[in-house]
Amino acid sequence: MSAQKPVKAATIQQIRASKNQTPIVALTAYSTPIARLLDPYVDLLLVGDSLGMVIYGMETTLGVTLEMMCAHGKAVKRGASSACVVVDMPFGSYQEAPEQAYRNAAKILAETGCAAVKLEGGREMAPTIAFLAQRGVPVMGHVGLLPQSFNSQGGFRTQGRTSEEAKRIKSDARAVAEAGAFSIVVEGVVELLAAEITETVAVPTIGIGASSRCDGQILVTEDLLGLFSEFTPKFVKRYADLAPDVSSAVAAYAQDVRSRRFPGAEHCFGTPREQPLKKGSAGESDVA
Ligand code: KIV
Repeated sequence: MSAQKPVKAATIQQIRASKNQTPIVALTAYSTPIARLLDPYVDLLLVGDSLGMVIYGMETTLGVTLEMMCAHGKAVKRGASSACVVVDMPFGSYQEAPEQAYRNAAKILAETGCAAVKLEGGREMAPTIAFLAQRGVPVMGHVGLLPQSFNSQGGFRTQGRTSEEAKRIKSDARAVAEAGAFSIVVEGVVELLAAEITETVAVPTIGIGASSRCDGQILVTEDLLGLFSEFTPKFVKRYADLAPDVSSAVAAYAQDVRSRRFPGAEHCFGTPREQPLKKGSAGESDVA
């Protein structure tokens, strides 16, 4: 199977139609250069509120703001020419009422140009998802481990280990799908539950820490690249270990600067100091 994606530009309709098809490939992105690098290979880029922890050094995602999501959403959209871009609604921006969710989702769509928003929650969020979906806001659901419910779920803990918990999460997924979500992220649940949810709901499930029994997979890009070492969950597969490369590159730069090996003659502009520049010569303005 090729690493290149089969469909050039992924739309919400195409993602929705991917149920029981070739698995959906999704990753998180928070910036334009990373979005550009990922875009040729992924169907979907999620501007996840995990950015609070991964790039802002927060301990949870609870401190992420709507302004942060809009700024990073805009940046990712600039770097994505074919992947479907989805932006997370941050904690506190949608839970109060469907109208509040609509106002903030509309702001995200209008400011970033993304295709959809994602919000966390089960049955309790179904009326909000229906309210948004019926008014032209495509919504991706998110059930199972809910990072925004860090306090009430007792930390980052695998979900669905008891039959009672599994039953509740399955009915959450069903409610979210029936409310009109076009796909659902299923996070941190046991394999059997992921399989049951995937079989039960009519829309694609995208798993993270939820086994292969989903219609697609998502990971946090920095985890996959070995760039986020604060915490590596068991479900992450590292495809690269870039942190040591970054450290040794920066160490070499620091040594070069301190020993005056950088910048070298090849990095300098213009003519030697003893020959004064003529006014208007190329050497005055060229930087590339
Ligand atoms: O915020 C995020 O990155 C997410 C993914 C982990 C699914 O919600």
